[in-house]
Amino acid sequence: MKNVKTILTLSAMSLALGACSTGITKSRNLGNPNVSGNTLAQQVCSVCHGNIGNSVNGNSVNPTFPNLAGQQKDYLIAQMTAFHDHSRKDPAAQQMMWGIARNFTPKQMDELATFYSQQTPMANPAHGKPALIAEGQKIFSEGLLDKGVPACMGCHGANAEGNGVIPRLAGQHANYVYKQLNVFNRDYKTAEGKDSVPDSALERPAGGVMEMVANGLTDHQKRAMAAYVQSLR
Ligand code: HEC
Ligand code: HEC
Repeated sequence: MKNVKTILTLSAMSLALGACSTGITKSRNLGNPNVSGNTLAQQVCSVCHGNIGNSVNGNSVNPTFPNLAGQQKDYLIAQMTAFHDHSRKDPAAQQMMWGIARNFTPKQMDELATFYSQQTPMANPAHGKPALIAEGQKIFSEGLLDKGVPACMGCHGANAEGNGVIPRLAGQHANYVYKQLNVFNRDYKTAEGKDSVPDSALERPAGGVMEMVANGLTDHQKRAMAAYVQSLR
């Protein structure tokens, strides 16, 4: 009798454990610190950031959602941290990423960033006419001396591959790039001539160097930059 009871207890326990371990590898629970970054990538992030074919690869189909595949690991961690602590607060960040990042642990962020930085970025189809892309290419490699805009290449790399906390731009969706250039431009206008403006008042407080850059570009030139970087692999 005692043995039967032990066996029943043991099998109930292993059932519970079994359920628990499949549960955790398929979990969408953003509030459970034991769910791994890889699982979150597959179960949660893929809905917006891309899941083409059967691989979860961070190449999003919808230009509202930035590509994460091949993005710099340090940049990914910095942005996730900024969504988590609400320091990055452009409207789409607030609406889409604050809730998701609310309970991120440092370990989950590290795993997510490792995962996405190791995915292969896919080429995006051309966005815009060849002349617009060529205009963007020129500014990317030469800057605009008269406007005080340095060459993007100097920081983002010759192929826009990024480096550390400087993001990869190659293959990024033009709509997203254009939108972010306007966010940096709004920050410039917020801070312009007001040295005392606290970082906490800016939508992307880590984008200090980008504010001047974006402000030196006309609307047309922002579109040219967006078209050019999307065309890169
Ligand atoms: C409901 C859709 C949605 C889901 C799900 C989602 N994201 Fe996002 N994510 C967005 C949008 C929209 C943006 C762009 C925000 C902006 O424009 O500021 C974004 C931006 C980001 C960025 C910044 C990219 C950059 O180039 O600056 C990172 C990093 C990121 N998400 C990571 C994640 C991770 C990791 C997950 C899963 C745990 C996730 N996201 C789930 C919609 C989503
Ligand atoms: C002095 C270095 C520097 C130069 C020059 C520079 N950038 Fe940046 N850029 C950065 C850094 C650093 C960030 C990350 C800012 C942040 O974390 O908010 C960034 C972010 C961006 C982003 C946001 C990407 C994303 O995934 O959200 C875009 C778009 C961008 N830069 C475009 C450009 C373009 C176009 C040029 C040239 C006209 C340029 N940058 C020149 C350093 C630079």
